[in-house]
Amino acid sequence: MEARNSAIVAAERTRGVKYAIRDIVMMADALKKQGREVVHLNIGDPITYDFATPPHIIDAIYQELLNGNTGYSPSHGIAAAVQAIGQEAERKGIVNISQICVTHGASEGIELALTALVNPGENVLMPTPGYPLYTAVLSKIGAIANPYYLDEGNEWQPDVADIANKVNDKTRAIVVINPNNPTGSIADEATLGQIVELARQHGLLIFADEIYDKILLEGKPPTPLAKIAQDHPCITFNGLSKSYIGPGLRMGWAIITGDPKAHADFTDAFMKMARARLCPTTPMQGAISAALQGDQSHLADMSARLKTRRDLVVSRINAMDGFQCVVPKGAFYVFPTIQDAASDWDFAVDLLEETGVVTVPGTGFGQRPGTKHLRIVLLPPEDVLNQAMDKLAAFVDKRRRAETS
Ligand SMILES: Cc1ncc(COP(=O)(O)O)c(C=O)c1O
Repeated sequence: MEARNSAIVAAERTRGVKYAIRDIVMMADALKKQGREVVHLNIGDPITYDFATPPHIIDAIYQELLNGNTGYSPSHGIAAAVQAIGQEAERKGIVNISQICVTHGASEGIELALTALVNPGENVLMPTPGYPLYTAVLSKIGAIANPYYLDEGNEWQPDVADIANKVNDKTRAIVVINPNNPTGSIADEATLGQIVELARQHGLLIFADEIYDKILLEGKPPTPLAKIAQDHPCITFNGLSKSYIGPGLRMGWAIITGDPKAHADFTDAFMKMARARLCPTTPMQGAISAALQGDQSHLADMSARLKTRRDLVVSRINAMDGFQCVVPKGAFYVFPTIQDAASDWDFAVDLLEETGVVTVPGTGFGQRPGTKHLRIVLLPPEDVLNQAMDKLAAFVDKRRRAETS
């Protein structure tokens, strides 16, 4: 056999995979190496700032380790975790639970579900803007992210007419992220009801990503989609990363609901994939029942602190020329629109290089063509946010003066 070219070439399926949230970090790291000061407004990880995992959750993990629980667990998770997840779902009004599976973060559940459901060439309706993991996984499996728009003029509510227009005979599922990353918007119950109706009409599996459902800044908490969907197949994702301030624990879960006859084939495939990866880390699973059944007081504290930080950022941004943002009601992001920039990617890169402030360009989340945004996290303490807003305001001002001179 002739010797092949020795270069180890990546698989074609990886070519389209993009994840702007981490891509911008690589540029920030390069600046840090040069000794520059960098202010991170880009990381959706509360631990990076002044939040900590509640101590009773840490104790529970420690106890699992002391008890020697370091063997494999069942693929769907240890009994105590599965029971706690089921009981909490029922408290939220979710019925018809057929399957609960503990996963390595919601991310693993999302990847398993898309892999188990979608064939190459098929598509999934994606909220746009929305969290980019879905698009990255779809690209990897040769499937297509079919964007539907959130309406910025209507507090970023999903545009149901747009969803109806975008469904086609290759559409398999619809993703709803509620509260949404990056907009921090909470979809109202009437809109969710219309989405469920469309899913019913077109036989779509509903992906309900509710990872931020306990991080509430104002108004009513989001209604679980599975509660509205009832007998219609739905897979709900949640976990400890955001509401329980433990993203590095990598503990998430998926809950499959709806008429079991309607989703049995998918659920079998999902669990087959889950068994193939053996199990989530066993001692970490002890954190789940501790979190869901233990003291919840950190939630009110976190929401109160985030609300102050949100009010600060929103008022500072809305005072800048050419910037405007819808007030987020949940999660910990704002997604202001930038009027005076050729591209938000260039804007974010210039801002980083000139001021050291790291944001994520709207392009990384998808957005209506012609619009430009930045995602800013609300997690840093007020002094850091104020300092970053000063730098952003000076940067914007300088650009405007350069344009008009
Ligand atoms: C909407 C959304 N879904 C899922 C995830 C991933 O969560 P996990 O850390 O549980 O994998 C994130 C993380 O930022 C997110 O914003």
